[in-house]
Amino acid sequence: MLCEEAGRILTKAKFAIAFTGAGISAESGVPTFRDANGLWKNYRPEDLATPEAFRRNPRLVWEFYRWRMKLISKARPNRAHLALARLEEMGILKAVITQNVDDLHREAGTKNLIELHGNIFRVRCTACSYRENLKESERLEELLSSDELPKCPRCGSLLRPDVVWFGEALPKGALEKAFELASKADVVLVIGTSGVVYPAAYIPYIVKEHGGRVIEVNPRRSGITPIADVFIPKPAGEGMGKILEVVEGLVYGK
Ligand code: APR
Ligand code: ZN
Repeated sequence: MLCEEAGRILTKAKFAIAFTGAGISAESGVPTFRDANGLWKNYRPEDLATPEAFRRNPRLVWEFYRWRMKLISKARPNRAHLALARLEEMGILKAVITQNVDDLHREAGTKNLIELHGNIFRVRCTACSYRENLKESERLEELLSSDELPKCPRCGSLLRPDVVWFGEALPKGALEKAFELASKADVVLVIGTSGVVYPAAYIPYIVKEHGGRVIEVNPRRSGITPIADVFIPKPAGEGMGKILEVVEGLVYGK
C-alpha cells in the first residue's frame, strides 16, 4: 500500500532526487556508524573520525580506516542501490546525494552522484594538494597490507583518508550542488539515514519547504520521519525493490 503510493508519486515526479545514509548499505554488510556492530575496539567512531584524533594518533586512525577500507572493498551494491541506478536510467531520478563514503552507488551504476562526506577509496595529502583514488589500483593493496603510515608520493607528508570527519566542513562544491538539487526537486526519496547530521540533514527540509514530497524508507523512525509524506518502515532492499516494481509496472504496464 505504502510502496504503491511511493511508486505513484515517483512516476509522476518531474525532478526526483534521493538522499541516502549508512542504512542503505547495511544489507551490503557495511556497518552503520551508529550501530552497535559498527563499534571498533571499544572506541566510539566519533573519537576516531576527527581531525583531533588524527593529530593525536594517526596510526590508530589509519588502522581504523584500513579496517573500514577492507570491509568496504568486499561489499557489493544491494537491491536498493541497484533500484536507484535503475530509476535514474528510466529518467525518473535526477541525482543521488549520499552521506556514504563506500562507493556503492557508483558501483551500482548511478551516474549523477553527489558525495557529501567524501570517498573512502580516496586519500589526500595533509600538506600539499595531492589526491589519489586508490580503487582498483595496486596502491590500495599496498596500503592495506602495510602498517606504515601512508606518505604522499609528491612531498612525503602524511596522507589522510579523503573523507569528512566530525567537526570538518563539507566539500563546498558538493554541498552547493546538493542544496541546488534540493531546491529544484519535487520529490526526495530519503533512505537509511538517521537525519541528525547537519548540514546534510537539511536536504529533505529544503524539498519539503517549497512543496516537494518526502518519501522515506527506513526500518526505524528518524529525524526526517516527522516531515515524511510516505514513511515505509522496511529495510532499504525490500522497500526499494517493491517501489521499483510498482514504478516499472506503471511505466511499462507490467
Ligand atoms: N535499511 C534502511 N535503513 C536502515 C537499515 C536498512 N537495512 N538498517 C539501518 N537503517 C537506518 C537506521 O534506522 C538509521 O536511521 O539507517 C540509519 C543509519 O543511521 P546513521 O548510522 O546515523 O547513518 P547516517 O544517517 O548515514 O549518518 C550520517 O554521520 O556517522 C556520520 O559521517 C557519518 O555519513 C555519516 C553521517
Ligand atoms: Zn603532499
